[in-house]
Amino acid sequence: MLSDIYVIILVQDLNNAILLNAIKANCAAFSPLKLRLGGTLQDKVIYATPDNKQSCDAFQKSTSEMFGFTQGCLPMNRWDELSSFFQKAGAKIIFGLNALTGRTINSNGTATGDWDYTNSESFIRYSVKNNYTVHGWELGNELCGHGIGTTVSASQYVSDTTALKKIVQDIYKGVEPKPLILSPGGFFDVKWFKDYTDKTTTSLDVVTHHIYNLGPGVDEHLIEKILDPSVLDSISSTFSNLHGILKRSATSAAAWVGEAGGAYNSGRHLVSNTFVYSFWYLDQLGMSASYDTKTYCRQTLIGGNYGLLNTTTFEPNPDYYSALLWHRLMGRNVLATSFSGPKKIRAYAHCAKQSKGITVLLINLHNTTTAEVRVAFNTTWTLRHKHKSHKPHRSHVTKLQQGPRSSTEREEYHLTPKDGNIQSQTMLLNGNALRVDSSGIIPSLNPVYVNASEPILVGPSSIVFAHIPYVVPPACR
Ligand SMILES: *[C@@H]1O[C@H](CO)[C@@H](O)[C@H](O)[C@H]1NC(C)=O
Ligand SMILES: *[C@@H]1O[C@H](CO)[C@@H](O)[C@H](O)[C@H]1NC(C)=O
Ligand SMILES: *[C@@H]1O[C@H](CO)[C@@H](O)[C@H](O)[C@H]1NC(C)=O
Ligand SMILES: *[C@@H]1O[C@H](CO)[C@@H](O)[C@H](O)[C@H]1NC(C)=O
Ligand SMILES: *[C@@H]1O[C@H](CO)[C@@H](O)[C@H](O)[C@H]1NC(C)=O
Repeated sequence: MLSDIYVIILVQDLNNAILLNAIKANCAAFSPLKLRLGGTLQDKVIYATPDNKQSCDAFQKSTSEMFGFTQGCLPMNRWDELSSFFQKAGAKIIFGLNALTGRTINSNGTATGDWDYTNSESFIRYSVKNNYTVHGWELGNELCGHGIGTTVSASQYVSDTTALKKIVQDIYKGVEPKPLILSPGGFFDVKWFKDYTDKTTTSLDVVTHHIYNLGPGVDEHLIEKILDPSVLDSISSTFSNLHGILKRSATSAAAWVGEAGGAYNSGRHLVSNTFVYSFWYLDQLGMSASYDTKTYCRQTLIGGNYGLLNTTTFEPNPDYYSALLWHRLMGRNVLATSFSGPKKIRAYAHCAKQSKGITVLLINLHNTTTAEVRVAFNTTWTLRHKHKSHKPHRSHVTKLQQGPRSSTEREEYHLTPKDGNIQSQTMLLNGNALRVDSSGIIPSLNPVYVNASEPILVGPSSIVFAHIPYVVPPACR
Protein backbone atom coordinates (compact mmCIF):
# COMPACT_ATOMS: atom_id res chain seq x y z
CA MET A 1 0.00 0.00 0.00
CA LEU A 2 2.55 2.58 0.98
CA SER A 3 5.01 2.87 -1.82
CA ASP A 4 8.15 2.31 0.12
CA ILE A 5 10.02 0.76 -2.72
CA TYR A 6 9.23 3.72 -4.94
CA VAL A 7 10.55 5.97 -2.26
CA ILE A 8 13.76 3.99 -2.51
CA ILE A 9 13.78 4.36 -6.27
CA LEU A 10 13.40 8.07 -6.15
CA VAL A 11 15.33 9.14 -3.12
CA GLN A 12 17.67 6.39 -1.93
CA ASP A 13 21.35 7.03 -2.53
CA LEU A 14 22.49 4.01 -4.51
CA ASN A 15 26.14 4.68 -3.87
CA ASN A 16 25.55 3.59 -0.31
CA ALA A 17 27.85 0.56 0.05
CA ILE A 18 25.89 -0.80 3.00
CA LEU A 19 22.70 -0.79 0.95
CA LEU A 20 24.38 -2.56 -1.96
CA ASN A 21 25.90 -5.12 0.42
CA ALA A 22 22.58 -5.64 2.16
CA ILE A 23 20.81 -6.25 -1.13
CA LYS A 24 23.67 -8.41 -2.42
CA ALA A 25 23.68 -10.49 0.75
CA ASN A 26 19.95 -10.95 0.38
CA CYS A 27 20.15 -11.92 -3.23
CA ALA A 28 22.70 -14.55 -2.31
CA ALA A 29 20.73 -15.70 0.71
CA PHE A 30 17.42 -15.95 -1.10
CA SER A 31 18.93 -16.92 -4.45
CA PRO A 32 17.47 -15.16 -6.21
CA LEU A 33 15.81 -12.29 -4.45
CA LYS A 34 12.82 -10.92 -6.30
CA LEU A 35 12.19 -7.24 -5.81
CA ARG A 36 9.00 -5.55 -6.88
CA LEU A 37 9.33 -1.93 -7.86
CA GLY A 38 5.90 -0.49 -7.49
CA GLY A 39 3.23 0.59 -5.09
CA THR A 40 0.76 3.38 -4.64
CA LEU A 41 2.56 5.92 -6.78
CA GLN A 42 3.29 3.60 -9.69
CA ASP A 43 0.05 4.60 -11.38
CA LYS A 44 1.18 8.22 -11.37
CA VAL A 45 4.65 7.79 -12.85
CA ILE A 46 5.81 9.08 -16.21
CA TYR A 47 8.90 7.48 -17.70
CA ALA A 48 11.19 10.11 -19.20
CA THR A 49 12.05 8.04 -22.25
CA PRO A 50 13.81 9.87 -25.11
CA ASP A 51 10.53 10.26 -27.04
CA ASN A 52 8.62 11.66 -24.07
CA LYS A 53 8.05 15.37 -24.39
CA GLN A 54 6.69 16.11 -20.90
CA SER A 55 8.97 17.73 -18.34
CA CYS A 56 10.42 15.35 -15.77
CA ASP A 57 9.38 16.58 -12.34
CA ALA A 58 9.81 14.76 -9.05
CA PHE A 59 6.80 13.73 -6.95
CA GLN A 60 5.43 16.54 -4.78
CA LYS A 61 3.15 16.04 -1.81
CA SER A 62 -0.30 17.38 -2.61
CA THR A 63 -3.41 16.78 -0.54
CA SER A 64 -5.73 17.58 -3.44
CA GLU A 65 -4.33 14.80 -5.63
CA MET A 66 -5.16 11.12 -5.61
CA PHE A 67 -2.82 9.23 -3.19
CA GLY A 68 -1.59 12.59 -1.85
CA PHE A 69 1.06 13.18 -4.49
CA THR A 70 1.32 14.95 -7.83
CA GLN A 71 2.33 13.02 -10.88
CA GLY A 72 6.00 12.09 -10.77
CA CYS A 73 8.64 11.11 -13.22
CA LEU A 74 11.33 8.47 -13.47
CA PRO A 75 14.36 9.97 -15.28
CA MET A 76 16.15 7.47 -17.50
CA ASN A 77 19.52 8.10 -15.87
CA ARG A 78 17.91 7.02 -12.59
CA TRP A 79 16.57 3.87 -14.27
CA ASP A 80 20.06 3.20 -15.70
CA GLU A 81 21.51 3.55 -12.22
CA LEU A 82 18.85 1.31 -10.66
CA SER A 83 19.20 -1.37 -13.30
CA SER A 84 22.94 -1.59 -12.89
CA PHE A 85 22.55 -1.55 -9.11
CA PHE A 86 20.10 -4.46 -9.11
CA GLN A 87 22.11 -6.33 -11.72
CA LYS A 88 25.25 -5.96 -9.60
CA ALA A 89 23.31 -7.18 -6.59
CA GLY A 90 21.75 -10.06 -8.54
CA ALA A 91 18.12 -9.19 -7.85
CA LYS A 92 15.22 -10.15 -10.11
CA ILE A 93 13.04 -7.16 -10.78
CA ILE A 94 9.27 -7.06 -11.08
CA PHE A 95 8.42 -3.65 -12.47
CA GLY A 96 4.97 -2.18 -11.85
CA LEU A 97 3.75 -0.18 -14.84
CA ASN A 98 1.48 2.84 -14.66
CA ALA A 99 -1.94 1.48 -15.64
CA LEU A 100 -3.86 4.73 -15.37
CA THR A 101 -2.39 6.62 -18.31
CA GLY A 102 -5.06 7.69 -20.75
CA ARG A 103 -8.02 6.93 -18.53
CA THR A 104 -10.68 9.30 -17.26
CA ILE A 105 -11.17 9.34 -13.51
CA ASN A 106 -14.90 9.78 -12.91
CA SER A 107 -16.52 11.39 -9.91
CA ASN A 108 -18.04 8.04 -8.90
CA GLY A 109 -14.54 6.64 -8.31
CA THR A 110 -14.17 4.61 -11.49
CA ALA A 111 -11.48 5.00 -14.11
CA THR A 112 -12.77 4.40 -17.62
CA GLY A 113 -11.32 4.25 -21.10
CA ASP A 114 -8.50 2.21 -22.61
CA TRP A 115 -5.04 2.14 -21.12
CA ASP A 116 -2.75 4.41 -23.14
CA TYR A 117 0.36 2.29 -23.26
CA THR A 118 2.52 4.62 -25.37
CA ASN A 119 4.80 5.70 -22.53
CA SER A 120 5.01 2.17 -21.01
CA GLU A 121 5.79 0.69 -24.39
CA SER A 122 8.63 3.09 -24.99
CA PHE A 123 9.92 2.45 -21.45
CA ILE A 124 9.95 -1.32 -22.05
CA ARG A 125 11.67 -0.74 -25.40
CA TYR A 126 14.28 1.44 -23.74
CA SER A 127 14.93 -1.27 -21.13
CA VAL A 128 15.27 -4.05 -23.68
CA LYS A 129 17.49 -1.94 -25.91
CA ASN A 130 19.80 -1.39 -22.94
CA ASN A 131 19.78 -5.08 -22.05
CA TYR A 132 18.12 -4.54 -18.67
CA THR A 133 16.65 -7.83 -17.55
CA VAL A 134 13.22 -7.40 -16.07
CA HIS A 135 11.79 -10.61 -14.61
CA GLY A 136 8.22 -9.44 -14.93
CA TRP A 137 6.05 -6.51 -15.96
CA GLU A 138 3.10 -5.91 -13.72
CA LEU A 139 0.11 -3.88 -14.86
CA GLY A 140 -1.25 -1.48 -12.24
CA ASN A 141 -1.48 -1.35 -8.48
CA GLU A 142 -4.69 -1.88 -6.47
CA LEU A 143 -7.10 -0.84 -9.22
CA CYS A 144 -9.13 -4.07 -9.26
CA GLY A 145 -12.27 -4.95 -7.32
CA HIS A 146 -13.14 -2.07 -5.04
CA GLY A 147 -9.80 -0.44 -5.75
CA ILE A 148 -7.77 1.97 -3.68
CA GLY A 149 -8.26 5.50 -4.97
CA THR A 150 -9.95 4.41 -8.18
CA THR A 151 -11.13 1.22 -9.89
CA VAL A 152 -10.94 -0.26 -13.35
CA SER A 153 -13.49 -2.86 -14.44
CA ALA A 154 -12.43 -6.45 -15.09
CA SER A 155 -13.51 -6.34 -18.74
CA GLN A 156 -11.44 -3.19 -19.35
CA TYR A 157 -8.47 -4.79 -17.58
CA VAL A 158 -8.77 -7.84 -19.80
CA SER A 159 -8.30 -5.79 -22.94
CA ASP A 160 -5.45 -3.79 -21.40
CA THR A 161 -3.66 -6.99 -20.34
CA THR A 162 -4.04 -8.31 -23.86
CA ALA A 163 -2.52 -5.07 -25.14
CA LEU A 164 0.43 -5.42 -22.74
CA LYS A 165 0.99 -9.00 -23.85
CA LYS A 166 1.06 -7.85 -27.50
CA ILE A 167 3.59 -5.09 -26.97
CA VAL A 168 5.79 -7.34 -24.86
CA GLN A 169 5.69 -10.07 -27.51
CA ASP A 170 6.63 -7.53 -30.13
CA ILE A 171 9.46 -5.88 -28.16
CA TYR A 172 10.94 -9.19 -26.98
CA LYS A 173 11.03 -10.77 -30.45
CA GLY A 174 14.35 -12.67 -30.49
CA VAL A 175 15.17 -11.49 -26.96
CA GLU A 176 15.68 -13.90 -24.07
CA PRO A 177 14.71 -14.36 -21.33
CA LYS A 178 11.07 -13.46 -21.85
CA PRO A 179 9.50 -11.55 -19.00
CA LEU A 180 6.42 -12.61 -17.07
CA ILE A 181 3.19 -10.65 -17.36
CA LEU A 182 1.67 -10.08 -13.93
CA SER A 183 -1.56 -8.44 -12.85
CA PRO A 184 -3.74 -7.00 -11.31
CA GLY A 185 -1.77 -6.45 -8.08
CA GLY A 186 -4.72 -5.57 -5.89
CA PHE A 187 -7.16 -6.85 -3.31
CA PHE A 188 -9.02 -10.05 -4.02
CA ASP A 189 -12.62 -9.83 -5.14
CA VAL A 190 -14.29 -13.06 -6.22
CA LYS A 191 -16.26 -11.73 -9.17
CA TRP A 192 -13.56 -9.41 -10.50
CA PHE A 193 -10.82 -12.07 -10.33
CA LYS A 194 -13.05 -14.71 -11.88
CA ASP A 195 -14.10 -12.50 -14.79
CA TYR A 196 -10.52 -11.39 -15.27
CA THR A 197 -8.74 -14.77 -15.17
CA ASP A 198 -11.38 -16.45 -17.33
CA LYS A 199 -10.60 -14.02 -20.16
CA THR A 200 -6.83 -13.61 -19.87
CA THR A 201 -5.93 -17.24 -20.40
CA THR A 202 -3.40 -16.47 -23.14
CA SER A 203 -2.00 -13.19 -21.87
CA LEU A 204 -1.41 -13.59 -18.15
CA ASP A 205 1.39 -15.56 -16.43
CA VAL A 206 0.78 -14.56 -12.83
CA VAL A 207 -2.29 -13.39 -10.93
CA THR A 208 -1.10 -11.13 -8.14
CA HIS A 209 -3.08 -10.12 -5.10
CA HIS A 210 -2.36 -8.07 -2.00
CA ILE A 211 -2.93 -8.94 1.64
CA TYR A 212 -3.26 -6.66 4.68
CA ASN A 213 -5.37 -8.90 6.88
CA LEU A 214 -4.35 -7.34 10.20
CA GLY A 215 -6.02 -3.99 9.52
CA PRO A 216 -4.39 -0.62 10.10
CA GLY A 217 -1.00 -0.29 11.78
CA VAL A 218 -2.37 2.29 14.23
CA ASP A 219 -4.54 -0.42 15.87
CA GLU A 220 -3.46 -0.76 19.48
CA HIS A 221 -4.76 -4.32 19.55
CA LEU A 222 -2.53 -5.55 16.75
CA ILE A 223 -0.69 -8.06 18.94
CA GLU A 224 -3.93 -9.56 20.26
CA LYS A 225 -5.03 -10.02 16.65
CA ILE A 226 -1.81 -11.79 15.72
CA LEU A 227 -2.18 -14.15 18.68
CA ASP A 228 -5.78 -14.96 17.79
CA PRO A 229 -6.00 -18.09 15.60
CA SER A 230 -9.41 -17.05 14.25
CA VAL A 231 -7.93 -13.79 12.95
CA LEU A 232 -5.07 -15.69 11.30
CA ASP A 233 -7.54 -18.19 9.82
CA SER A 234 -10.00 -15.67 8.43
CA ILE A 235 -7.85 -14.85 5.39
CA SER A 236 -7.79 -18.51 4.29
CA SER A 237 -11.05 -17.94 2.36
CA THR A 238 -9.19 -15.53 0.06
CA PHE A 239 -6.58 -18.16 -0.73
CA SER A 240 -9.08 -20.95 -1.18
CA ASN A 241 -11.40 -18.85 -3.36
CA LEU A 242 -8.59 -17.76 -5.64
CA HIS A 243 -7.25 -21.30 -5.76
CA GLY A 244 -10.71 -22.54 -6.76
CA ILE A 245 -11.09 -19.88 -9.47
CA LEU A 246 -7.73 -20.76 -11.04
CA LYS A 247 -8.44 -24.49 -10.87
CA ARG A 248 -11.78 -24.14 -12.62
CA SER A 249 -10.52 -21.63 -15.19
CA ALA A 250 -8.70 -22.53 -18.41
CA THR A 251 -5.89 -20.21 -17.35
CA SER A 252 -2.44 -21.55 -16.60
CA ALA A 253 -1.58 -18.46 -14.58
CA ALA A 254 0.02 -19.01 -11.18
CA ALA A 255 -1.05 -17.20 -8.03
CA TRP A 256 1.34 -14.91 -6.21
CA VAL A 257 0.85 -12.71 -3.23
CA GLY A 258 2.24 -9.62 -4.92
CA GLU A 259 2.38 -7.55 -1.78
CA ALA A 260 1.69 -8.26 1.88
CA GLY A 261 2.71 -6.32 4.94
CA GLY A 262 0.22 -7.54 7.54
CA ALA A 263 -0.93 -4.19 8.89
CA TYR A 264 -1.38 -1.40 6.38
CA ASN A 265 -0.08 2.14 6.55
CA SER A 266 3.41 1.02 7.31
CA GLY A 267 2.79 -1.56 10.04
CA ARG A 268 3.47 -0.61 13.65
CA HIS A 269 6.73 0.14 15.42
CA LEU A 270 7.63 -2.48 18.06
CA VAL A 271 5.14 -4.90 16.53
CA SER A 272 5.89 -5.39 12.85
CA ASN A 273 9.64 -5.10 13.39
CA THR A 274 9.69 -7.49 16.34
CA PHE A 275 9.48 -11.21 17.07
CA VAL A 276 5.69 -11.38 17.32
CA TYR A 277 5.27 -10.51 13.65
CA SER A 278 6.89 -13.79 12.64
CA PHE A 279 3.81 -15.58 13.99
CA TRP A 280 1.75 -13.79 11.37
CA TYR A 281 4.39 -13.95 8.66
CA LEU A 282 5.33 -17.63 8.87
CA ASP A 283 1.68 -18.56 9.23
CA GLN A 284 1.01 -16.65 6.01
CA LEU A 285 3.86 -18.37 4.21
CA GLY A 286 2.51 -21.72 5.34
CA MET A 287 -1.12 -20.98 4.54
CA SER A 288 -0.48 -19.38 1.15
CA ALA A 289 1.75 -22.27 0.07
CA SER A 290 -0.93 -24.76 1.05
CA TYR A 291 -3.18 -23.08 -1.55
CA ASP A 292 -0.51 -23.29 -4.22
CA THR A 293 0.75 -19.71 -4.02
CA LYS A 294 4.09 -19.70 -5.82
CA THR A 295 5.65 -16.49 -4.53
CA TYR A 296 4.91 -14.29 -1.54
CA CYS A 297 6.22 -10.74 -1.79
CA ARG A 298 6.74 -9.16 1.58
CA GLN A 299 6.15 -5.47 1.94
CA THR A 300 8.91 -4.38 2.42
CA LEU A 301 12.56 -5.30 2.18
CA ILE A 302 13.47 -1.85 3.49
CA GLY A 303 10.99 0.79 4.51
CA GLY A 304 8.18 1.42 6.96
CA ASN A 305 7.86 -0.47 10.23
CA TYR A 306 7.37 -3.75 8.38
CA GLY A 307 10.71 -3.85 6.59
CA LEU A 308 12.64 -7.10 6.78
CA LEU A 309 15.70 -4.91 7.25
CA ASN A 310 16.04 -2.02 9.66
CA THR A 311 15.46 1.16 7.67
CA THR A 312 18.52 2.97 8.96
CA THR A 313 21.08 0.26 9.74
CA PHE A 314 19.86 -2.35 7.18
CA GLU A 315 20.28 -4.94 9.92
CA PRO A 316 17.80 -7.82 9.77
CA ASN A 317 14.62 -7.71 11.83
CA PRO A 318 13.26 -11.02 13.22
CA ASP A 319 11.09 -11.68 10.16
CA TYR A 320 14.18 -11.64 8.00
CA TYR A 321 15.55 -14.73 9.77
CA SER A 322 12.14 -16.37 9.64
CA ALA A 323 12.05 -15.83 5.89
CA LEU A 324 15.57 -17.17 5.51
CA LEU A 325 14.86 -20.37 7.44
CA TRP A 326 11.63 -20.85 5.53
CA HIS A 327 13.51 -20.40 2.28
CA ARG A 328 16.27 -22.84 3.23
CA LEU A 329 14.17 -25.59 4.79
CA MET A 330 10.72 -25.70 3.24
CA GLY A 331 10.71 -27.30 -0.21
CA ARG A 332 8.33 -26.62 -3.10
CA ASN A 333 6.12 -29.64 -2.40
CA VAL A 334 3.51 -28.92 0.21
CA LEU A 335 2.08 -31.78 2.25
CA ALA A 336 -1.51 -31.85 3.42
CA THR A 337 -1.17 -31.47 7.15
CA SER A 338 -3.70 -32.03 9.85
CA PHE A 339 -3.00 -31.15 13.41
CA SER A 340 -4.99 -32.41 16.35
CA GLY A 341 -4.57 -30.16 19.33
CA PRO A 342 -5.36 -26.64 20.45
CA LYS A 343 -5.85 -23.90 17.88
CA LYS A 344 -2.98 -21.88 19.31
CA ILE A 345 -0.58 -24.35 17.70
CA ARG A 346 -0.23 -23.89 13.93
CA ALA A 347 1.38 -26.58 11.83
CA TYR A 348 2.62 -26.82 8.25
CA ALA A 349 4.67 -29.51 6.51
CA HIS A 350 6.58 -29.55 3.23
CA CYS A 351 9.03 -31.87 1.61
CA ALA A 352 12.45 -30.76 2.78
CA LYS A 353 14.35 -28.39 0.55
CA GLN A 354 17.18 -30.08 -1.31
CA SER A 355 17.52 -32.84 1.25
CA LYS A 356 15.80 -35.99 2.32
CA GLY A 357 12.56 -36.15 4.27
CA ILE A 358 10.20 -33.44 5.38
CA THR A 359 10.31 -30.16 7.24
CA VAL A 360 7.60 -29.33 9.73
CA LEU A 361 6.90 -25.78 10.85
CA LEU A 362 5.23 -25.41 14.24
CA ILE A 363 4.10 -22.10 15.68
CA ASN A 364 3.06 -21.87 19.32
CA LEU A 365 1.01 -18.73 19.94
CA HIS A 366 0.43 -19.67 23.55
CA ASN A 367 2.67 -17.91 26.06
CA THR A 368 2.75 -20.39 28.92
CA THR A 369 2.28 -23.82 27.37
CA THR A 370 4.84 -26.14 25.86
CA ALA A 371 3.51 -28.38 23.14
CA GLU A 372 4.88 -31.89 22.76
CA VAL A 373 4.38 -32.84 19.15
CA ARG A 374 4.68 -36.17 17.43
CA VAL A 375 4.55 -36.60 13.72
CA ALA A 376 2.54 -39.50 12.40
CA PHE A 377 2.07 -40.43 8.83
CA ASN A 378 -0.13 -42.76 6.87
CA THR A 379 -1.62 -42.11 3.45
CA THR A 380 -2.66 -38.75 4.79
CA TRP A 381 -0.58 -36.74 7.22
CA THR A 382 -1.40 -36.25 10.80
CA LEU A 383 0.41 -34.33 13.46
CA ARG A 384 -0.48 -35.43 16.93
CA HIS A 385 0.32 -33.56 20.02
CA LYS A 386 0.04 -33.61 23.75
CA HIS A 387 0.28 -30.40 25.60
CA LYS A 388 1.05 -29.43 29.12
CA SER A 389 1.64 -26.39 31.21
CA HIS A 390 4.74 -27.58 33.03
CA LYS A 391 8.04 -28.95 31.99
CA PRO A 392 7.04 -31.81 29.78
CA HIS A 393 8.20 -35.29 30.61
CA ARG A 394 9.30 -37.21 27.61
CA SER A 395 7.29 -40.39 27.76
CA HIS A 396 6.71 -42.15 24.49
CA VAL A 397 2.98 -42.00 24.41
CA THR A 398 2.30 -42.35 20.74
CA LYS A 399 4.15 -44.84 18.65
CA LEU A 400 5.83 -43.01 15.82
CA GLN A 401 4.74 -44.13 12.41
CA GLN A 402 7.37 -43.22 9.95
CA GLY A 403 8.77 -43.83 6.52
CA PRO A 404 12.12 -45.44 5.80
CA ARG A 405 14.80 -44.29 8.19
CA SER A 406 17.94 -42.77 6.84
CA SER A 407 19.08 -41.53 10.17
CA THR A 408 17.80 -41.50 13.70
CA GLU A 409 18.20 -37.79 14.25
CA ARG A 410 16.35 -34.75 13.08
CA GLU A 411 17.43 -31.13 12.97
CA GLU A 412 15.50 -28.56 14.97
CA TYR A 413 15.57 -24.78 14.77
CA HIS A 414 13.88 -23.13 17.74
CA LEU A 415 13.09 -19.45 17.37
CA THR A 416 12.29 -17.47 20.50
CA PRO A 417 12.28 -13.79 21.42
CA LYS A 418 15.05 -12.32 23.58
CA ASP A 419 14.12 -12.32 27.28
CA GLY A 420 10.81 -14.00 26.42
CA ASN A 421 9.52 -10.62 25.24
CA ILE A 422 7.56 -11.14 22.03
CA GLN A 423 8.09 -7.46 21.21
CA SER A 424 11.85 -7.87 21.18
CA GLN A 425 13.68 -6.88 18.01
CA THR A 426 16.19 -9.63 18.71
CA MET A 427 15.41 -13.19 17.78
CA LEU A 428 17.15 -16.19 19.31
CA LEU A 429 17.94 -19.35 17.40
CA ASN A 430 18.33 -22.30 19.73
CA GLY A 431 18.99 -19.84 22.53
CA ASN A 432 21.57 -17.68 20.74
CA ALA A 433 20.87 -14.13 19.54
CA LEU A 434 20.92 -13.71 15.79
CA ARG A 435 23.09 -10.74 14.87
CA VAL A 436 25.08 -9.74 11.84
CA ASP A 437 28.80 -9.29 12.46
CA SER A 438 30.59 -5.95 12.13
CA SER A 439 30.88 -6.36 8.36
CA GLY A 440 27.18 -7.09 7.99
CA ILE A 441 27.54 -10.85 7.43
CA ILE A 442 24.44 -12.88 8.26
CA PRO A 443 25.17 -15.47 10.98
CA SER A 444 25.03 -19.15 10.07
CA LEU A 445 21.77 -20.74 11.12
CA ASN A 446 22.65 -23.96 12.91
CA PRO A 447 20.23 -26.60 14.14
CA VAL A 448 20.27 -28.73 17.24
CA TYR A 449 20.04 -32.50 16.77
CA VAL A 450 17.31 -34.46 18.45
CA ASN A 451 16.81 -38.20 18.58
CA ALA A 452 13.90 -39.58 16.59
CA SER A 453 12.36 -41.13 19.66
CA GLU A 454 11.87 -37.73 21.28
CA PRO A 455 8.77 -35.62 20.59
CA ILE A 456 9.21 -32.12 19.18
CA LEU A 457 8.96 -29.68 22.07
CA VAL A 458 7.53 -26.34 21.04
CA GLY A 459 8.03 -23.93 23.91
CA PRO A 460 5.72 -21.06 24.86
CA SER A 461 5.70 -18.21 22.29
CA SER A 462 8.09 -20.00 20.00
CA ILE A 463 8.49 -21.23 16.48
CA VAL A 464 10.13 -24.51 15.49
CA PHE A 465 11.32 -25.76 12.15
CA ALA A 466 12.06 -29.49 12.32
CA HIS A 467 13.81 -31.14 9.43
CA ILE A 468 12.98 -34.83 9.67
CA PRO A 469 15.09 -36.93 7.30
CA TYR A 470 13.69 -40.28 8.46
CA VAL A 471 10.12 -39.51 7.39
CA VAL A 472 9.88 -39.76 3.62
CA PRO A 473 6.35 -39.74 2.21
CA PRO A 474 5.87 -40.77 -1.43
CA ALA A 475 5.43 -37.12 -2.49
CA CYS A 476 8.96 -36.35 -1.32
CA ARG A 477 10.81 -39.23 -2.96
C1 LIG B 1 -19.34 5.87 -13.11
O1 LIG B 1 -19.33 6.95 -14.00
C2 LIG B 1 -18.98 6.62 -15.34
C3 LIG B 1 -18.87 7.91 -16.14
O2 LIG B 1 -19.96 8.75 -15.91
C4 LIG B 1 -20.00 5.66 -15.92
O3 LIG B 1 -19.66 5.31 -17.24
C5 LIG B 1 -20.04 4.42 -15.05
O4 LIG B 1 -21.04 3.53 -15.50
C6 LIG B 1 -20.30 4.76 -13.59
N1 LIG B 1 -20.11 3.55 -12.82
C7 LIG B 1 -20.82 3.26 -11.75
C8 LIG B 1 -20.51 1.96 -11.07
O5 LIG B 1 -21.68 3.97 -11.34
C1 LIG C 1 23.13 -5.43 -25.56
O1 LIG C 1 23.56 -6.75 -25.84
C2 LIG C 1 23.87 -6.95 -27.23
C3 LIG C 1 24.13 -8.44 -27.41
O2 LIG C 1 24.93 -8.92 -26.38
C4 LIG C 1 25.05 -6.05 -27.61
O3 LIG C 1 25.33 -6.22 -28.99
C5 LIG C 1 24.67 -4.59 -27.34
O4 LIG C 1 25.77 -3.74 -27.58
C6 LIG C 1 24.19 -4.40 -25.90
N1 LIG C 1 23.65 -3.07 -25.77
C7 LIG C 1 23.96 -2.27 -24.75
C8 LIG C 1 23.34 -0.90 -24.76
O5 LIG C 1 24.69 -2.61 -23.83
C1 LIG D 1 16.95 0.23 13.84
O1 LIG D 1 18.05 -0.18 14.63
C2 LIG D 1 18.40 0.72 15.67
C3 LIG D 1 19.69 0.22 16.27
O2 LIG D 1 19.57 -1.12 16.68
C4 LIG D 1 17.25 0.79 16.65
O3 LIG D 1 17.56 1.68 17.70
C5 LIG D 1 16.00 1.27 15.92
O4 LIG D 1 14.88 1.26 16.79
C6 LIG D 1 15.71 0.41 14.71
N1 LIG D 1 14.67 1.04 13.92
C7 LIG D 1 13.47 0.51 13.79
C8 LIG D 1 12.49 1.29 12.99
O5 LIG D 1 13.18 -0.57 14.25
C1 LIG E 1 0.34 -14.39 28.57
O1 LIG E 1 -0.70 -13.74 27.86
C2 LIG E 1 -1.71 -13.22 28.68
C3 LIG E 1 -2.84 -12.75 27.78
O2 LIG E 1 -2.33 -12.02 26.70
C4 LIG E 1 -1.11 -12.12 29.55
O3 LIG E 1 -2.10 -11.57 30.37
C5 LIG E 1 0.00 -12.71 30.39
O4 LIG E 1 0.65 -11.71 31.12
C6 LIG E 1 1.02 -13.44 29.53
N1 LIG E 1 1.94 -14.18 30.36
C7 LIG E 1 3.26 -14.22 30.15
C8 LIG E 1 4.05 -15.09 31.06
O5 LIG E 1 3.78 -13.60 29.26
C1 LIG F 1 -4.57 -42.19 9.12
O1 LIG F 1 -5.10 -40.90 8.91
C2 LIG F 1 -6.50 -40.80 9.06
C3 LIG F 1 -6.91 -39.40 8.67
O2 LIG F 1 -6.28 -38.44 9.46
C4 LIG F 1 -6.89 -41.15 10.49
O3 LIG F 1 -8.29 -41.08 10.64
C5 LIG F 1 -6.41 -42.57 10.78
O4 LIG F 1 -6.67 -42.86 12.14
C6 LIG F 1 -4.93 -42.69 10.52
N1 LIG F 1 -4.52 -44.08 10.65
C7 LIG F 1 -3.62 -44.49 11.55
C8 LIG F 1 -3.28 -45.94 11.52
O5 LIG F 1 -3.06 -43.72 12.31
